[in-house]
Amino acid sequence: MNDKETLVKKTIFSGVQPSGMLTVGNYLGSIKNWKEFEETYNCLYCVVDLHAITVRQDPATLRRRTYETLALYIASGLDPEKNTLFVQSHVPAHAELSWVLNCYAMHGELSRMTQFKDKSKKYASNINAGLFTYPVLMAADILLYQTDLVPVGIDQMQHIELTRDIANRFNQVYGDTFRMPEGFIPKAGAKIMSLAEPEKKMSKSDTNGNASVYILDSRDDIIRKFKRAVTDSDTVVRRAEGKDGINNLMTIYTAFTGKSDADIEAEFAGLGYGHFKLAVGEVVADALAPVHAEFDRLMADKAYLEGVMKDGAAKAAYLARKTLSKVYRKVGFTQPK
Ligand code: TRP
Repeated sequence: MNDKETLVKKTIFSGVQPSGMLTVGNYLGSIKNWKEFEETYNCLYCVVDLHAITVRQDPATLRRRTYETLALYIASGLDPEKNTLFVQSHVPAHAELSWVLNCYAMHGELSRMTQFKDKSKKYASNINAGLFTYPVLMAADILLYQTDLVPVGIDQMQHIELTRDIANRFNQVYGDTFRMPEGFIPKAGAKIMSLAEPEKKMSKSDTNGNASVYILDSRDDIIRKFKRAVTDSDTVVRRAEGKDGINNLMTIYTAFTGKSDADIEAEFAGLGYGHFKLAVGEVVADALAPVHAEFDRLMADKAYLEGVMKDGAAKAAYLARKTLSKVYRKVGFTQPK
């Protein structure tokens, strides 16, 4: 990415925390959709390790998952030559801008963040200041690159709104500094639900072993989890109010096959749920097999992954520095030559 490209192409930024194994929900809701942008946008995809330590992490596990998340980006089809793939802590400007933006984010607005309220309940013994200012670091991630578009899951939309509020507040005081980013929710697989409790989102950190299907689950595990998916007492495969389990399986099937609801209803007419669940499991396992193979190859080549990290961080740092210098100048920091 050179300066000319950043002028003509719009910028996309998104991130995934290396805090758990990625699920099929993460895959469909984010990574899989990102590939289509690589030719027409400047794309930056970050492994957000600074965000991950807002809840306790085992150091060795965090380190391994950082490599794994990067490897999954690439194994899912993102070309490191065409996308800037990097690790958040490798680019100090994220933490630096975050500090400045903390002084332009209000205690009241941060207290209203749904994710903060949820996480405060979940991690009641560790409601640290980082958990509270988490959305400010996210705003820094986005605003550093003069981002136009931020593909995210629906649960992150409130953080994007806050990012816009912070950017607006800063721009009002200091004049145009940050481009106003827009969040958007990719259509396919926008929200994949838990297989065990289909009224809840599929989560990386669910403790119920049947709830989440991980991208790296073995073929047998994937099929077993789909076979056990919680459905309802009806027997007809069709999308309808109250059939959360079947609706979710239909969404997943559509995301992997492109088939419409009508196609699916016709395909499984008279066949019952068992048949359908197995078919969904097989489609998912088939689609993920090449991702597994590529992931294994990449994880065996740490030197390659480290090369990607290094190049990505250098490209990101160059762009980030431009925004950060502007911000430092505007707020009145001195800059010795
Ligand atoms: N908070 C996001 C999540 O948990 C991850 C994230 C961090 C992010 N920084 C970001 C997403 C910037 C988009 C843009 O899903």
